[in-house]
Amino acid sequence: MPTIRLFCPEDLPRLQEITALTFGPVSIDRNMEQLLGEFGPSDWQARKLAAIALDCELQPEGVFVAVDTEDRPVGYVTTRLQPASGIGWIPNLAVDPVCQGQGLGRALLERALAFFRESGMEVAKIETLEQNPIGQSLYPSLGFQEVARQVHYARKL
Ligand SMILES: CC(C)(COP(=O)(O)OP(=O)(O)OC[C@H]1O[C@@H](n2cnc3c(N)ncnc32)[C@H](O)[C@@H]1OP(=O)(O)O)[C@@H](O)C(=O)NCCC(=O)NCCS
Repeated sequence: MPTIRLFCPEDLPRLQEITALTFGPVSIDRNMEQLLGEFGPSDWQARKLAAIALDCELQPEGVFVAVDTEDRPVGYVTTRLQPASGIGWIPNLAVDPVCQGQGLGRALLERALAFFRESGMEVAKIETLEQNPIGQSLYPSLGFQEVARQVHYARKL
């Protein structure tokens, strides 16, 4: 069973690889690209990989990585502490498809929740898309309650 440890900078390329493997079906940006055609100087995947790099840069002590017996990352969760509101936010979570369904996603989220508690946060927040059935069953099973639904619109200019 993989263990969970703190992120180190050498992990980033592998975390981005896992991101590229997993986020296609659950990306708002990709939905937009499919509907409107390509736009901007890069594609949805490049923007998503940049978002993961930014998560790791902004709060490396809040990024937790599941690794196999050879210390190779197989999943990750990124977090952001928001002390002004007492909210701990989980922007990104992914597990290599080869390792999914073994409880890693759940274990990573539990690690993030422990980090929020240790850091004095009062509430944890995470978003999921309607097109992501796993999120909608996993998050409530960890005690998250639905608080709102948002509809995203976009148009070509
Ligand atoms: C979401 C994700 C991280 C879960 O990782 P995982 O390691 O497979 O998660 P777990 O093994 O802990 O299983 C999560 C739960 O989802 C359930 N599940 C799996 N596939 C499912 C499906 N198609 N529909 C509903 N539930 C499903 C599992 O049964 C499990 O529930 P259980 O613990 O009660 O048995 C992984 O699927 C992933 O990387 N998805 C792509 C990226 C993503 O969606 N990220 C989250 C949005 S930010």
